Amino acid sequence: MDAEQKLRLCDKNLASLLAERVTLVGAGAYDEREAQKNLALFNALFGGTKSIALIGFMGAGKSTVSRYLKRALALAERETDAMIVEQEGMPITDIFEKYGEPYFRELESKTVLSLESMGQAVISCGGGLVMRKENVENLKLSSRIVLLTATPQTTLERVKNSTERPILNGNMNVEYIAQLMEKRRETYQKAADITIATDHKDVAAICAELVEKLAVE
Ligand code: S3P
Repeated sequence: MDAEQKLRLCDKNLASLLAERVTLVGAGAYDEREAQKNLALFNALFGGTKSIALIGFMGAGKSTVSRYLKRALALAERETDAMIVEQEGMPITDIFEKYGEPYFRELESKTVLSLESMGQAVISCGGGLVMRKENVENLKLSSRIVLLTATPQTTLERVKNSTERPILNGNMNVEYIAQLMEKRRETYQKAADITIATDHKDVAAICAELVEKLAVE
């Protein structure tokens, strides 16, 4: 093994140690200093300070993963839906009802543009946000894009009691979810730098896998 190969192996080992640190800091009592060390190691391995943008279908676990990474990596957290709700002063369902979906999609595009100047963060993107090509291009300027996936069955289990997703209101069944998921599948995959399947995994395991994959990508 030459020196270069040995260095790559060291990086791989560091990435798996980082994954372990992420689960320890994420699960334990919050310790910001340890979380900051995680972030420093992540940025060193990754070679930059890009944000982590989480994409995927409704119920893929973006908000849960985002909350965990915020703690484990001492990152700022941004949710595009929450930013829009705050700015408009009304819930997503009301925005859809009052102004229609195209208006909401415009707000999403503006939100993506505003993220670039906000610094490194973990960004949870609304499920339809990357269906616009320009949003993907703008996201990529300052973020690595992580696709979270789940089967239609898992998705339904996770979203069935929510009434806050206008796209699914009146369509809360596995057939509709499977069909819309299939429609979006290719666009999601093309946008993603890495993909993590979330079925039957807890959030700590998902975040460990995510950080390790991104760090050595
Ligand atoms: C949408 C997903 C939602 C929200 C809006 C539309 C979609 O976000 O942006 O209801 O088109 O997939 P989540 O993916 O966070 O549920």
